[in-house]
This record gives sequence, C-alpha cells and structure tokens, in this order.
Amino acid sequence: MPSLTPYPHIIHGCDYNPEQWLHSPEILKQDIELMKQANINSVSIGIFAWAALEPEEGRYELDWLAEIVDRLWENGITSVMATPSGAKPVWMSHKYPEIRRVSASRIRDLQGGRHNHCYTSPVYREKVRAINTKLAERFANHPGVILWHISNEIQGECHCELCQAAFREWLKERYGTLDALNLAWWTSFWSHTYTDWSQIESPAPNGENSIHGLTLDWKRFCTHQTYTFFENEIAPIKAANPNAKVTMNLMGFYDGIDYWKMSKLLDVVSWDCYPAWHTQQDGDETYNAFWADAYSDICRSMLGKPYLLMENTPSQTNWQGICRPKTWGFHRLTAISHLAHGADSIQYFQWRQGRGGAEKFHGAVMTHANRTDTRVFQEVRGLGETLKRLDALCGAKTDAKIAMLYDIESHWAVNDAQGPRNDGIGDNDLMLRMYLPFWTAGYAVDFVSPDMDFSGYHLLCVPMLYLLRNDIAARIRNYVKQGGTVVLTMHTGVVDEHDLCYMGDTPAEGLAELAGIRVLEIDPLYDDEYETLRITKAPFPLAESYRLERLCERITAEGAEVLGVYEHGNPCMPDEMPCLTRNSFGRGTAYYAAAFAEDRFYSDFLLSLAERLGIQPALDTAFPHGVTAQRRTAQDGTAFWFLMNWTREQKAVTLPFALKDYETDKIYQNKLPLPPYGAKILVRAN
Ligand code: GAL
Repeated sequence: MPSLTPYPHIIHGCDYNPEQWLHSPEILKQDIELMKQANINSVSIGIFAWAALEPEEGRYELDWLAEIVDRLWENGITSVMATPSGAKPVWMSHKYPEIRRVSASRIRDLQGGRHNHCYTSPVYREKVRAINTKLAERFANHPGVILWHISNEIQGECHCELCQAAFREWLKERYGTLDALNLAWWTSFWSHTYTDWSQIESPAPNGENSIHGLTLDWKRFCTHQTYTFFENEIAPIKAANPNAKVTMNLMGFYDGIDYWKMSKLLDVVSWDCYPAWHTQQDGDETYNAFWADAYSDICRSMLGKPYLLMENTPSQTNWQGICRPKTWGFHRLTAISHLAHGADSIQYFQWRQGRGGAEKFHGAVMTHANRTDTRVFQEVRGLGETLKRLDALCGAKTDAKIAMLYDIESHWAVNDAQGPRNDGIGDNDLMLRMYLPFWTAGYAVDFVSPDMDFSGYHLLCVPMLYLLRNDIAARIRNYVKQGGTVVLTMHTGVVDEHDLCYMGDTPAEGLAELAGIRVLEIDPLYDDEYETLRITKAPFPLAESYRLERLCERITAEGAEVLGVYEHGNPCMPDEMPCLTRNSFGRGTAYYAAAFAEDRFYSDFLLSLAERLGIQPALDTAFPHGVTAQRRTAQDGTAFWFLMNWTREQKAVTLPFALKDYETDKIYQNKLPLPPYGAKILVRAN
C-alpha cells in the first residue's frame, strides 16, 4: 500500500490549539521548539478555531493560521488541518437559531458546548461550506498539510422541524407510498397507522417509541444526514485538491451513527482511544487493552489498511470517574499496541493544557508547569525516538484469516427490542467474548460489515446477527458452500431489515438449514442463574463442560451433529437438548452455539477451531497471562512482531525462533523477558 501521504514517517502528533494562545505570542514561539524536543512531527490544528477564523460573519482571518502552519512546516512539522464545524461561534448561534440542535424531547439548545449543531440546517451547511472553502483555498495545496480532519467526533442527532421534514422526504424516497411504510413499520399495532406523511415524527421519549421500524429508519436517516453533511464538508477540499486526504475521528464503540457507512467517505480511518486505564487493583490491564485493540482492529478493517490513532492522552483524561494518569512506562505500551494492531500514528489530545475552560485539567504533553523535565514530556519524547526509527512500518499490512461480523443495524435493532432480556442483551459483549481468545493468543482478526466481502477468510464468526438481511444470509450460505467455516450463535436471523420478525423457522433465510438446526424458543436467564453445556462429542480438545448464562436458546438438531447438550438441573426439561452443533454444508462447515457461555468456552472452542483450520497466530507459542502479540508485514516484506505485557508482573515468552529487538538490536534466542507493562518491537534475528 502506498503510504498515507508523501510524509513517510509514523505520525507522532497532537491536537494543537494555538487559537487559545494568540494573545501570548511567546508561548506560540516556544511551542515549535518544544515540539521538536518532544519528537512531535505533526499537529492537528484548527479543530475548534471557528471564532478565530471568522470572528464575524463573512470576515475571515486565516493569516494567523497560515503563519503557524508555515512555521511548523519550516521546522519539519506537518499539519493535519481540521475543519471547525465541531463547535459553532457564538455570533452564529445567536443570529441563526436554526443551527442549534433540538433534543428528542423537542427542546432547542441554547448556545454552548460543542458537537451540537443541526446537520440539516441549510444555513449551517452553507456556513461550513464557506469556511471550508476558505481553508481549502489557503491550505489544500500546502506541502505541510498532509491530511484533513473533518469536524470532530461527529455525533448525535437533531429533532428540529428541518430534520423532521428531511426525514419525511427520505422516507418517501425509501418507501414510495404510505401504505408500504405502514406495512414495513407494522403500524397497525396500537393503532399507530399514518394517514399523512406530515404525521411522521422522529422517535421521542414523550412521543413515538413503540414502532421499531421507525426507530431503525431514524437511525439510518441520521447516518444518511451525517453522511451528506460530511460530503458537504469535504467537497470544497477535494475541489481545491482532488488528492487531498480526509479523515474523521471515530469514538470507539459509539453507536449513534453507522461508522461503516461513514468510512466510505474517508481516505483513512482514525479514532480517539480513551480506555479507563488502571481500574484494576492488581494492575492487570487486559480488559481495557483488549477492548481498545478490538476497536483498533475495527478501524483497520474498515478500509483494509492502517488507521491513525488520532487522539489518546499522554497521561490522563479529565472526564472519567477517576482520572488516573497512565503510570510510568504505560504510555509506551499502549502506543506500541496501537502500532501492533495497525496504527500508522500516535497522536495526542493535546499538546498543551489550556488555562481555562472545561478541559484545563486534561492531560497534555505540555502541562501548566510549562517544563520539559516532567515525566510525561520525557516519556513522549522517548516514544518519539522509537517512532523515528520506524519509517519501514508505515503502511505495513496485517494478514488476518479470521473475520468477525459486526453489523451496527443489527445492534440497533436487538437493543431496541423489548425482550427477551431487557437488562442487557449483550450482543457486543458476545462479539468481544468471541474476539478475546484470538487477541489473547496473538491471532489477527478483521471485523467485517455485512456489506464487505468475507469470502477470503478461513473462519467467519457471526455473533448474534439478530437482524438479518436476505442478501447477507445468501452470502453466508454461499461462503460455507464454497468451503468456509462459520460460527453462528443464538438469536440470529430473527428479524428482517425492517425489524419485522421472520415467519417460519429461525435462524431465517436458510441459516437454519445451513446450521442443520431449528430454534424452538429462547430462555433468558437471571443474572445469578446458570446452566451447563456438557460436551458430548468433541471434534477437537474441549473441556467436559462449560458454564452458560444470560441467553439459552432451545434448539433441535435437524441434520446437525450434536457436540454438546444442556445440563440444567430442571426436571421438567427434556434430556439431551442440543446446545452446540456442527453441520456440513456444501464444502464447508457451520457451527451453532445456542447459549451465551463463559469466556473459557470461546477460548477452547475458537482456538481449537482456528488451529484445526490451520490459521497461524503471530507467534506460535503459549503466551503467559496478560502477554499479547501481533505481527505486521512491511511493504518491503519485513515482518515486525510486537509483544505487549499488560500486567505489572515480569513475564517471559518462549520464542519459536530467534528474534531481534528492533530498538536495541539485542537478539533473543529462546526466552524473551518482558518487564512489567513492557512492550517490544521485534524482527527476525537473521
Ligand atoms: C475527545 C475530543 C477532544 C477532547 C478529548 C478529551 O473526545 O475529540 O476534543 O475533548 O476528547 O479526552
């Protein structure tokens, strides 16, 4: 893959807000010198600078920004140029109330905060286009501007009249007639039939919230509206320079909009990673780390190429319950883990702590002390030394043979449904439980949306695909027919794309036939209730039994081989009800796991399956608890291995072959020691 930009280094950057310091030129002067000392080679600039760029309507002041961007570039520091739409200027909010967001209960915001504009407002779109045009004319061809950072953490929804009207138009386009809409939304339920398009309103806590098709379409509409808003943002940039690259900083598992769809507009995916580090007394960070790495894998998978870590804190946030700073050396570990999972950058929020405002205590490379001998500054500088030597890693690939299907529409639908478990259905939790063993054992996993091609993977995991489009079902069947292996789980293929329950056997659309089973009913357990899966026929090494929780689907085998049954202690329940099955279909195999199981089950089952399918982890060795590994292959063919120790204990890894520490050139033949929270970048010894 060609590297992201003509700037062929791993980006070591930060959010830079010089607009907060225009009154202190001496600080701005110091900044560049200090950035160089910290080995910062890029800044994200202008993110919330609209008031400084357009202090009054139509009066644009870009010289100050141009001067800083030039000076940065003269000093070898590139700019990721942001568009400022994430926060609107006060004058604009007052002059054009329509740009202020209206909540679901139909209350319009006062001016304040950020991330709270209306995506539909023609005025806001026009104002955004105008400022972006000015910025693009000035910077789109600037050699120091390597990327455009569109808005900031695009999120939320607006329920104003403009949005309602746009929603109705979108629905007309989608359904054509009200009859079709009424049928698709099942509005005869509770007499909610619409007789005029004008009666349709977005979901509201004090209004309509019992029509699931409406809620689902509203979320799709919000994505659509955000998408067209984004198109409007990037048009002037691409017009000024068709080769300009754009990104949007995603917020992890935020589910307000469909990021898969948004990613189609991006040249590179980036995300802001803020786990609540140091929440465990024993210092074991595996839980936070695997959550973060899972989302990094999603970002890498979206475009099938490296992502950027647009934001992380070099020390602490200011918005978590308890805002602990990353402990000594821990920042390096988290950064190397991002590189391991496909990042081509390590960027911070933020360069310098502001003196006022809500984020004055958020961690930054430069703190209020304004000194370079702080621990954080020195750790950032040290990491920068490492990154400087990693040019070869830019654009390096991850070769995953395992795919995890992650469908946001299904996530929306299953969480909107009332029943069978309103106290947390756990779809994302199940997905992460299925991801965890691969992460632990050093396998690379790609996440795929239902629209992506998964035919090349050796193993496809499909956790709780409650909403099942018929085209996806057909592709899953075809994948298995052609020789693929799929793992399906409970509560799959229950509703169609309108959130209408399928009639007939489930999992619907031929997935029951694929799995050789049929669902009889689903039994949600109370939080303190458990059942047991007893393995009756292990096709590969499995324990005798596993604990089950949350959701137990009762199924009947219709052709599938039963590998495990329920052991339930319920005298009323028939014996030997299947719980885990396997079915041959065409040239491939479909497994069906009918109940939500303890972690150990997914670990034993999925890792045995991966091994049986000949899928290789990054390093073929048994890692001690808390140590993980990944591999990336550089464009010149060099393989890089990354080892991370997420515990406060000293660990040692047995190596299957000799590896060389990329930073120190030290060669490890058999055993590689990893200090507490240690991380290593390695290449082959010879
Ligand atoms: C991000 C946001 C930044 C900053 C940061 C603080 O969500 O994009 O502007 O607020 O959080 O952690």
